[in-house]
Amino acid sequence: MNTKMEQRVELSDEIWSETCWEIGESRFDPDQAVTAGSNFMIGNGYMGYRGTFADDRADQYPALVVTDTYDNADGTWKELVTAPNGLFTLLSCRGKDILWRQGGFGEYERRLNMLRGEWSARARWDDPGILVEEERFCSYDDLHLLTSRTRITALGEVELEIATGIDGKVWSLNGNHFSSLSLEEGPDCLEASCVTGEQGYHLVLREDALLRRAGGAAIEPCETASREGALCRVFRVSLEEGQALVLEKRVVLYSSNDLRDTSRITSDAARGPLPTQEEVRQATAGGLSRAVSRSWEELREAHRNIWKDRWDSADILIGGDRVAQTLIRYNLYHNVIAAPAHADHLPLGARGLSCQAYQGAAFWDQEIFNLPMFLFTDPETARRLLVYRYRTLDGARKKARDLGYRGAFYAWVSGDTGEEICPSWFFRDVLTGRRIRNHFNDWQIHVSPDIAYTVWKYVTATGDQEFLELYGAEILFEVARFLASRVHYRPGLERYEIIRVLGPDEYHENVDNNYFTNFQAQFVCRYAVEVYDSLSTDHPRVFDDVARRIGLERGERDAWDDIARRIYIPEADHETGLIEQFQGFFELEDTRPEVIRERLLDPGEYWGWPNGIAVETQVSKQADVTQLFMLHPKACSREVIRANWEYYEPRTQHGSSLSYAVYAICAAWIGHDQEAYRYFLRSCTVDLLNTGKAVSGGTFIGGIHTAACGVAWQIVVSGFAGMYLTRSGFGFDPHLPSGWETLAFTLKRWGDSLEVTLHQRAMTVRAREDNSREITLEVGSSEVALPPGQQVAVPLR
Ligand code: BGC
Repeated sequence: MNTKMEQRVELSDEIWSETCWEIGESRFDPDQAVTAGSNFMIGNGYMGYRGTFADDRADQYPALVVTDTYDNADGTWKELVTAPNGLFTLLSCRGKDILWRQGGFGEYERRLNMLRGEWSARARWDDPGILVEEERFCSYDDLHLLTSRTRITALGEVELEIATGIDGKVWSLNGNHFSSLSLEEGPDCLEASCVTGEQGYHLVLREDALLRRAGGAAIEPCETASREGALCRVFRVSLEEGQALVLEKRVVLYSSNDLRDTSRITSDAARGPLPTQEEVRQATAGGLSRAVSRSWEELREAHRNIWKDRWDSADILIGGDRVAQTLIRYNLYHNVIAAPAHADHLPLGARGLSCQAYQGAAFWDQEIFNLPMFLFTDPETARRLLVYRYRTLDGARKKARDLGYRGAFYAWVSGDTGEEICPSWFFRDVLTGRRIRNHFNDWQIHVSPDIAYTVWKYVTATGDQEFLELYGAEILFEVARFLASRVHYRPGLERYEIIRVLGPDEYHENVDNNYFTNFQAQFVCRYAVEVYDSLSTDHPRVFDDVARRIGLERGERDAWDDIARRIYIPEADHETGLIEQFQGFFELEDTRPEVIRERLLDPGEYWGWPNGIAVETQVSKQADVTQLFMLHPKACSREVIRANWEYYEPRTQHGSSLSYAVYAICAAWIGHDQEAYRYFLRSCTVDLLNTGKAVSGGTFIGGIHTAACGVAWQIVVSGFAGMYLTRSGFGFDPHLPSGWETLAFTLKRWGDSLEVTLHQRAMTVRAREDNSREITLEVGSSEVALPPGQQVAVPLR
């Protein structure tokens, strides 16, 4: 694996723009190709296009990653495919290529504008003297459209060759996904047509390129020719000093699944027959003719308007801290472009659409880290992500059945059908080369209650009874049913236990009574009983319908009730306040990550199960006990949270990007202000400063850490503003970082909106005029009712 991937960038002023809406760089570093390609990426939830340069080839990791194209390339990994690169453009002068990747520019910058979802770059070469400025975006107005505009200005007399077309040699992590790939010249366009090897999905991409003199007429290509695997139209142009060319490219892409029924995704077969290649081609052709019928400015305007609406509800304003302001927008931006907001049958991947790592699939990250931002700013998207879990229930049922359980055991790694796609062998022992059997797929059960917990959170925050009746109750009952088949009853102790699991801390496998897992299981069983009772009493028809669909038996409700009452939940020690992460954890060697690091024989060794350096120690990969507090802020007293934060924090390696945020949020609550801010920065810069590992145990895990991006919202709103849900509104327990003068954001509840503004010593909350009901606010010991159109100011501390 390329060691370039592990290098880091320095935190330099140049990445922060004046407006706090952009990140940028003015120094080109070819060693940062993986990281920069991810950080500067554009996307729209349907496709992601890495922020690489137009002439980059597979070695520089360009990628156009497309949703709903899960396919197995080499028999191990099912993952999204990387489509041919339709923005490929190569400039040359007198037989010599002018390549971005070779640097050597007089002037250079690459930028990402988060407000508009636009990428741009400019560079000036001295020999030949040209200035190249490119801008591009993945349209939110037409999700199948990727487009760029490049202006080339001659700084002296110059003869240029411009080869622009489609590069068919793609960067693909785990082998070639296409059993056939053809590049052809079509009517007024170039076309790439591919068929995936396992599923036989068709992907058709068409590219239209229009080159013209600035303010002048279009230029005709001289020929269509191949450039090492790329099919290009070739233009040859002479320019005088000051003259400029403008190249507009419109790339449209469709895949088979875009044309299939998505109403009930339970297996590939359930989606009906695959459309023919001709049908996919027709869809692409239609998309391209729509795109060429509109001017580039019109296309851009339509795209920008949608981003404007997104930011209207999602933006967080931080006064007095420009770094934090830019960071928060950068992270929210990546959470938005990773989310398939257009669909309710697709997951939000752990690396989004930034590359194929983590198979383009959802983990528990989706519900616990990505979704809350949407829940309170764009609940429709939160709903769609949960409906995806409904549509993949059959996959979860199959997994439960295959492992001898009942109900829904959700996949640890969940793609389109929800069947488990996490391989049993994930990492390799770098010392022996032997495969390591991890049990993420069959023992990490907390994903199921995490999803059911999120059903509770969604229904509580939105009051969406229809969702509960159509989807939520079934998810919930099936998860409770799974838990009932998974717990063990210990007659001597008269309690239920959950044995042989992995909690969030993945280094310790095969553990019993993980506090996080048991607590979540109890919460879900309790909620399942509550929903069972209310539905069967208040909506008996709906209840009967669900019960019939899943063959619910009479005794099941009582079994859940019994589990909720008698499951073993490790208690906080009376003296120390400590909660044991799992049974026997405190008997493990008590040491620290920096100490055990010295024991590594090879820096690339995997730290966890079965015999990594952390396994026999109290060193955790990521937050585990503290993770529970993040989900249930009122479950324990602040003293208990403090005691556990202080105990576990120095023992946590943060080997997962999910970890920092949890420590940031809990630190804010317990008044560890500096640590809270420090962890906030660490969490928000995982990608920007490339602090994560790109490779673990020999597996590529680079790309955008979408969970860290999504949870940035929670650090600020749940952590610093201390927001929590109450029955009749919201509670707040603010702890603003000392450098923040103001913090403002919008929160949605039951379809209504509140505008929250915090200062160090006061907060104001305004209910929008068109709110439908009164919302109650709880701040400290006071409670204030806020009718529509009213504003309240509450002093703090
Ligand atoms: C973490 C998991 C997480 C996964 C995907 C792993 O490194 O330990 O908690 O779900 O990455 O982000």
